[in-house]
Amino acid sequence: MEAKIIEIKNKALSELENINNLKELEEFKNTYLSRSSELTNLKKGMKDVSPEDRPKIGSLLNEVSRELENLAFQKYELFYAKELNEKLNAEIIDVTLPSTFIPRGKVHPLTQTVNEIVEIFEHLGFSITEAKNSPEVEVEKYNFDLLNFPPEHPAKDMQDTFYTEVGKNVVLRSQTSNAQVRTMEHTNPPIKVISPGRVYRSENVSARKNDLFHQIEGLYVDKGVKFSHLKGVLNEFIRLYFGASRPIRFRSSYFPFTEPSVEIDVQCIMCGGKGCPTCSGTGWLEVLGAGMVDPNVLKGVDIDPDVYSGFAFGMGVERLTMLKYAIDDIRLFFNNDVRFLKQF
Ligand code: PHE
Repeated sequence: MEAKIIEIKNKALSELENINNLKELEEFKNTYLSRSSELTNLKKGMKDVSPEDRPKIGSLLNEVSRELENLAFQKYELFYAKELNEKLNAEIIDVTLPSTFIPRGKVHPLTQTVNEIVEIFEHLGFSITEAKNSPEVEVEKYNFDLLNFPPEHPAKDMQDTFYTEVGKNVVLRSQTSNAQVRTMEHTNPPIKVISPGRVYRSENVSARKNDLFHQIEGLYVDKGVKFSHLKGVLNEFIRLYFGASRPIRFRSSYFPFTEPSVEIDVQCIMCGGKGCPTCSGTGWLEVLGAGMVDPNVLKGVDIDPDVYSGFAFGMGVERLTMLKYAIDDIRLFFNNDVRFLKQF
């Protein structure tokens, strides 16, 4: 038995010599130090050893086990440190390497303006009308008739409208004012809504005009709404959007669906009011039309004009953006040149 133990020990020691990594060490431990190892089996056989030999054999077995365990642990510490180091070196990160370029998207300047204006009007108590009240493909009834354009009225030619072949009287809306009538048609006052969207007019495209552009419509209908409310709200809007220092003027105007009607001009930022090509030499640029809702429009949607009154406005998103950032050509918004878009 003693010889057997020594033999196992020598075999184990020579194997241990040749072990070079944690995986081999693991196998070694399974063979020599596990519960199914030869040494363990010998320990189990101690009951068959004669009583006088037992102490000697027992302590030899323990001694050999302990020695092998110690040696294996030393190897373990060695290999563990070595393998950890190798792993760290292999995964080393060079923080000085240049990073990969990830291009960043941006919100289009027109969308930024719409968001900004919507926020201002929400602050003033308006909410956005439902999308179903603001279709871009529209019937003449909502684009013109219910807005008090008489059938053969020259005002219908005021805007050169795109007619579609989808059906008779189907147009690409020429103004967001369709949202006014559609909202009023199935909403009881008080109504206090805005409605941003695209509009289409058959224009000769130039630095100032595009055949697709954006408007934000506004409508406030309640008992006792007066022109002074219109002035207050729109003055406040201009002040919040441009800041207090930008000169503006109210100019009387005409729209079939408002009476009285006004337009607001903002001083041209390109020339500071001196006159330049952008403002056709006038020093001013029109940014919105507005007025008190015509009683005929209210009647057309079954709102009693003797009880209710209201004001409406429609503003040009491109114009407002151009005037804020001194952009002198409306076409820049639609070319999608990233060098332009990146600046906002
Ligand atoms: N719809 C008019 C336009 O496009 C603007 C407007 C809106 C005027 C609402 C008065 C009231 O020019």
